Amino acid sequence: MKVLFYDAKPYDVDSFETQLKKYPEVEIEFLDTDINPKTARLAGGFDAICAFVSSDLSKDTLKSLHESGVHKILMRCAGFNNIDLDVARELGFIILRVPSYSPEAVAEHAMALAMSVNRRIHKEYIKVRENNFSLVGLEGLNLYGKTAGIVGTGKIGTAMARICNGFGMKVIAYDKYPNKELSFVEYKELDDVLRESDLISLHCPLTQENYHMINEKTISMMKDQVILVNTSRGELVDTNDLIAGIRAHKFHGVGLDVYEEERDNVFENREAEIMETSITARLLSFPNVIVTSHQAFFTVEALAAISETTLENAMSLQSGKFPEQNVILQ
Ligand code: NAI
Repeated sequence: MKVLFYDAKPYDVDSFETQLKKYPEVEIEFLDTDINPKTARLAGGFDAICAFVSSDLSKDTLKSLHESGVHKILMRCAGFNNIDLDVARELGFIILRVPSYSPEAVAEHAMALAMSVNRRIHKEYIKVRENNFSLVGLEGLNLYGKTAGIVGTGKIGTAMARICNGFGMKVIAYDKYPNKELSFVEYKELDDVLRESDLISLHCPLTQENYHMINEKTISMMKDQVILVNTSRGELVDTNDLIAGIRAHKFHGVGLDVYEEERDNVFENREAEIMETSITARLLSFPNVIVTSHQAFFTVEALAAISETTLENAMSLQSGKFPEQNVILQ
């Protein structure tokens, strides 16, 4: 099984090479470049390609892979909103993914964002380096005794609910399919969760129905001085409305691991570039906003789980027996 691995970062290579020792039948060639309609042609002669959630798997790229005779894709991630599934289906692709690698990694990052922005750790880190030991502007809020609102209580939302419970918070949640194991969580309608929470954390997938679920109207329902955290998908939040809300002093803090304009930024060093759009720059200008670059998943444990499942998926491409939960298309 020969796999062409696009957009390989040093930590991917380390993690996959460690796991490869257990899978001698799989051979991987690592490429720095990501996949696009042109670079897809490099896959000719390989059995499969390996791509990520930020890879371009649009119609033209899939056509180019098809023309190169490659119809197997190993996604080393859970999300697949970057794949044109209609075209992939039409062209006969088999696509597998890693449905779950470490929900705790993402949930712990969500709480890290909430706590950092709440206690202004990002400001303090810079300030004390300049011998500025003033506390002005650093006031935080106790989370103990406050209400956490979790939107989406799947694997990650469940882990976040447990963390919030551990902080001594009351935990309320909205999900169409309540998790009955979470006895300490009170399920409510979405509007009520938004109205009653001091910390709102988004953990639902992006769908057509919840695009821009956080917008001018829903922000106006929220408590003043709420903390909002998004580690799910950028498009759940209307960024312009969020910026208006921040400017109106609605939020104590906002922590974003994902945001609408992230696609060109994710995992790239763009420090020498001039940013063409202003939304990200505007977000970064606020003292009560922290942006991280889609790094919530990024722990040693999660990387090991991703590489292991991806290699198991590669093996299953040979046997033709796919674990159902890993199949995007077959
Ligand atoms: P999951 O599939 O286990 O859970 C999603 C939950 O959301 C389900 O319980 C579902 O019923 C619920 N849901 C669906 N539509 C909803 C809606 N409109 N409103 C409220 N709840 C809704 O997914 P998991 O593993 O917990 O991941 C959640 C999301 O986290 C992913 O879809 C992905 O967008 C994001 N993610 C982010 C990562 C990062 O590094 N920042 C890494 C991995 C996932």
